[in-house]
Amino acid sequence: MNLDLSKIPSHVAVIMDGNGRWAKAQGKNRLFGHKTGVKAVQKIVQESARLGIKNLTLYAFSTENWKRPEQEVTILMTLLVSSLKKELKQMTENNILFNTIGDLSKLPGPVQKELKYTIEQTQNNSGMKLTLALNYGGKEELTQAFKEIAHKVKNNIISPENVDETIINKHLYTRNLPDVDLLIRTSGEERISNFLLWKIAYAELYFTEILWPEFNESHLHLAIHNYQKRERRFGKTSEQLNA
Ligand code: FPP
Repeated sequence: MNLDLSKIPSHVAVIMDGNGRWAKAQGKNRLFGHKTGVKAVQKIVQESARLGIKNLTLYAFSTENWKRPEQEVTILMTLLVSSLKKELKQMTENNILFNTIGDLSKLPGPVQKELKYTIEQTQNNSGMKLTLALNYGGKEELTQAFKEIAHKVKNNIISPENVDETIINKHLYTRNLPDVDLLIRTSGEERISNFLLWKIAYAELYFTEILWPEFNESHLHLAIHNYQKRERRFGKTSEQLNA
């Protein structure tokens, strides 16, 4: 399949879903599903950087995921730390800048420490920005932004008339990310699940039946190919765009 390299989406976001179902279908436990999910993350990160995608944002742990059995939460946190340790070299070699969104203060200490270290070690890289959403929720992101703005209004730092999209954007975790161009969700579910609510306003949505552990480079190409065939009108008419 030929991708148009001049039309690579600048911001791709992924809801990586289906680790548990994939493991079950293999007669294995959920841990095996998540471990294989990490391998898919490695493949997709590498291929995204190679294709020239500037921003890749992955939904790794939502504010709702704390409701999972304690053992599974622990497994996900442990996998995260071991993956960060293992992948730092690759990220450095591929000039990847590592970033997070979400409220990290609720994550276990060792996870926070490893995240901070990885961010520091990659902050001068100029290639793809890889953002992991951790303890992230779109509603929570907006709520904390509005709360901060309300405080600033109260303290006369911002006047209510001046609250606009630019000001709101400046208070989001995602303030340094552009709008999402392409949002991919695996495993056949067709939901947003509280991901990047502000930044997906005009995103193209792509749903695939493939379960995350099986999602590979060719599936990513397929998603981008599908994206490249779409007409993004941003509220305009087709005629206006073609004029
Ligand atoms: C969905 O599968 C996936 C997650 C809960 C989070 C994604 C986590 C990984 C890909 C592995 C760890 C990630 C990093 C970055 C180290 P599910 O468990 O919801 O699957 P199910 O819906 O089939 O049960």
